[in-house]
Amino acid sequence: MKISLLGGTGAFAEGLVIRWSQAGHDIFIGSRSEEKAQGITNDMLEKAKSVGIDANITGLVNAEAAKETEIVVVCLPHEHTSSTLEGIKDSFTNQIVISPVVPMKKEGDFFLFDQPPLGSAVAEIKAVLPDTVKIVSAYHNIPAKGLANLDKPLDYDVAICGDDEESKKVVKQLTEQMPNLRPIDAGPLQLSGMIESITPLIINMNIKHKHEFSIKFV
Ligand SMILES: NC(=O)c1ccc[n+]([C@@H]2O[C@H](COP(=O)([O-])OP(=O)(O)OC[C@H]3O[C@@H](n4cnc5c(N)ncnc54)[C@H](OP(=O)(O)O)[C@@H]3O)[C@@H](O)[C@H]2O)c1
Repeated sequence: MKISLLGGTGAFAEGLVIRWSQAGHDIFIGSRSEEKAQGITNDMLEKAKSVGIDANITGLVNAEAAKETEIVVVCLPHEHTSSTLEGIKDSFTNQIVISPVVPMKKEGDFFLFDQPPLGSAVAEIKAVLPDTVKIVSAYHNIPAKGLANLDKPLDYDVAICGDDEESKKVVKQLTEQMPNLRPIDAGPLQLSGMIESITPLIINMNIKHKHEFSIKFV
């Protein structure tokens, strides 16, 4: 499949780029700057080659990256997500848009969930994009560091929320292509805020224990 990552130059996108390249997908790294996108693309092609992955990665500005693909992953910081998507919304037709976006703030030494007025980051994304896109919420609880480390088995669960069964099935398959992530359908998009809210808890624990905790349902 063709997959674009908006803000694909950042920490979280790195693991998705390398793991979906390994699974044979065509990847488009989006950025505000074409030059930065191309620089990170070159770095990722090098990284892929060094571990024997024959990757197909292209660097573009966000608006062009989104247009190219059937899957768009929003890897932008929450505070810049709505404004960025607003600025490029003409690039969207009927793509599946995946949101791992977590709204959070730092108070003292700790991160807290910063619930948006609409209830979740994904509800804000839905409010900006055309009704024709299918939005799925996933990957909020996966630490970027573990995701980018191919030597690390990802023994985590991925709670997936969405209102369109077919697109949730596609995201489930994309998740299963990253060993050993286990996708679990967690219900409609309306429930995404609860999944998003777990991430600051995990980050605080990871900082405290210098570990890469995530979630697993047993
Ligand atoms: N990091 C994690 O462990 C983790 C885990 C789960 C979910 N998430 C979620 O994944 C998303 C990305 O996280 P991240 O850690 O990768 O973030 P990040 O590295 O801070 O930022 C990602 C990219 O966003 C773009 N960006 C930064 N400021 C921007 C602005 N003012 N306007 C438009 N674009 C801007 C930058 O790309 P350009 O400069 O190239 O435009 C940057 O490389 C967040 O919503 C986060 O909550 C992260």
